[in-house]
Amino acid sequence: MSAVDRRKRISVPEIQARKGGEPIVSLTAYSAPMASFLDPHTDMFIVGDSVGMVLYGLDSTLGVTLGMMISHGAAVVRGSQRACVVVDMPFGSYQQSPEKAFRSAAKVMRWTGCDAVKLEGGTEMAETVQFLVARGIPVMGHVGLMPQSVNQLGGYRARGRGRGEARRIIADACAVADAGAFSVVVEGVVEPLAREVTSAVAIPTIGIGASAECDGQVLVTEDMLGLFADFTPKFVRRYADLGPQISKAVAEYASDVKARRFPGPENCFRELPAKGKGKGK
Ligand code: KIV
Repeated sequence: MSAVDRRKRISVPEIQARKGGEPIVSLTAYSAPMASFLDPHTDMFIVGDSVGMVLYGLDSTLGVTLGMMISHGAAVVRGSQRACVVVDMPFGSYQQSPEKAFRSAAKVMRWTGCDAVKLEGGTEMAETVQFLVARGIPVMGHVGLMPQSVNQLGGYRARGRGRGEARRIIADACAVADAGAFSVVVEGVVEPLAREVTSAVAIPTIGIGASAECDGQVLVTEDMLGLFADFTPKFVRRYADLGPQISKAVAEYASDVKARRFPGPENCFRELPAKGKGKGK
């Protein structure tokens, strides 16, 4: 773990104090170079378990391990100086008991140097959130669409369209807030529900597919840069289309290699002039 100058980073209490203020800018990051590009413009990185789908080609986030999250979390901490870094707890690393969650979260904190962890769940996770917070681990909640429960939810459709489900999601957000979470991700909910959740809790809500009614926004960076080829969800705005630019660059490289235009003279090492040769000889 690299030495991090704590004075420069946006802290968990600073994020929490942004409730109702200037919207919090958040993005996912999984690697040091990407984190360093994003860092000057980002208040908070979420090292999401979406890494499994975006970088590893998994079908869901369920195959992501604690080891993967620790490696990517540590890389993001090394690659950034300013943004608060939150690392996702992967499926199976926290649900069993508060004690198990503490052991996993302590490993994440110790080996990555991150500022906080995030876990999915509402009322059923409140005891765990409280247990971690009481032991010095800042926790971000995650309610609404919870990708680790995809098998139970039956897919990734938006949540909270019916009043019963909307009430449960509000209760979930209140439960994690009351348990001491410093912030909560609200994913895939209709706009009126995002507004209700945001006014129901005293901590910042960070929306993804949850309208501008939240205290901040997060997007999967690869989605907004056009780097995740499969498909772009409705709630994503593409700010760049880097996938086609990469393909074009690689096609040019392949053609240069085949035509022996690469490497050129400027890319080749030269022999050093032999010692003793030259002046006067
Ligand atoms: O895994 C992920 O990318 C997330 C986002 C909602 C931040 O949890």
